[in-house]
Amino acid sequence: MILSIESSCDDSSIALTSIQDCKLIYHKKISQELTHSLYGGVVPEIASRMHANALPAILKDIFTKFSKKDIRAIAITTRPGLSVTLIEGLMMAKTLALELKIPIIGVNHLKGHIYSIFINKANAILPLSSLLVSGGHTQIIQTNSFSSMKLIAQSMDDSFGESFDKVAKMLDLPYPGGPQIEKLAKNYQSSKDILDSPIPLPIPLRNHSGIAFSFSGLKNAIRLEIQKVEKTMHACIAKSFQSTAIIHLLQQTERYFRRHHSPEHFALVGGASANATLRQALETLCKKYKKNLLLAPLEFCSDNAAMIGRYARECYLNHQFDDILSLQCSPKSLEDEF
Ligand code: KG4
Ligand code: ZN
Repeated sequence: MILSIESSCDDSSIALTSIQDCKLIYHKKISQELTHSLYGGVVPEIASRMHANALPAILKDIFTKFSKKDIRAIAITTRPGLSVTLIEGLMMAKTLALELKIPIIGVNHLKGHIYSIFINKANAILPLSSLLVSGGHTQIIQTNSFSSMKLIAQSMDDSFGESFDKVAKMLDLPYPGGPQIEKLAKNYQSSKDILDSPIPLPIPLRNHSGIAFSFSGLKNAIRLEIQKVEKTMHACIAKSFQSTAIIHLLQQTERYFRRHHSPEHFALVGGASANATLRQALETLCKKYKKNLLLAPLEFCSDNAAMIGRYARECYLNHQFDDILSLQCSPKSLEDEF
């Protein structure tokens, strides 16, 4: 088994993955959302201290149920993320690897999200392109093999999930804002069109020549709309924002399908991929372009150690290990990674 640890932001999570058939043997996640919602967003120092309590508690649970000798490698998210939270997981991973005398595998969190599609599945379906929508990133990535991933497009400013968090804050909704906006938007019954925008909003980068994402202009347009209306209109605002943000994702993804010789398989991954309207709208787009849409089960959309273990299993089979003492964490991906 591979024991994997994820602490890049506000989720403390540890998993055990079978090396042979990729079965998820154990997975536990302790979310800090409730604590951070008191502050309207993640407070890194508090997150770090909470990981320092939660990770050892999960580990203790694992060692009451499983034998240490069945663990063959330790996988750890090393980047991108919050430095003070990544380091909590990394120190635990290094200690375990030294104690058990087994290799360590540093994993890029974004690669983990891409491999969330293959949790509990022995074979990865490749080549694959992915739309990754999380709190920190909005990217289209093409994966040819576990070690060959190419960045096709990314956000020029805020990420998709981040814009939901910021708009939620403007509407006095708690953190994280994505599920809150989605819920509020459902309260607005207008037409049958799932992407109806009752308030006309500018679709970002509509006339931009390349493929890219941008959410800061849309966020500012929403700020102005909120100033104009009563609270009773907030569901209408949430619906309009969600629809416009998703239409923007679809327009850029469609450009990718048209302009690139893209693989048959297309995955939607990352925390914001839990959004049901986005899942449904992308399904329709993929049908039009004859793409096979792959979606992660909802429990593996947001940050988790199972996806880190699933990616690390490919590294393990290919003997891609890191040096325990020199392995570092970093808030950003490496220069040549994405
Ligand atoms: O991948 P993730 O768990 O953490 C990062 O790596 O950033 O993604 C968290 C992000 C947050 O911004 C959250 O608001 C957003 O995903 N999110 C959603 C939904 N559920 C979570 N955004 C839109 N709709 C949702 N249903
Ligand atoms: Zn994430």
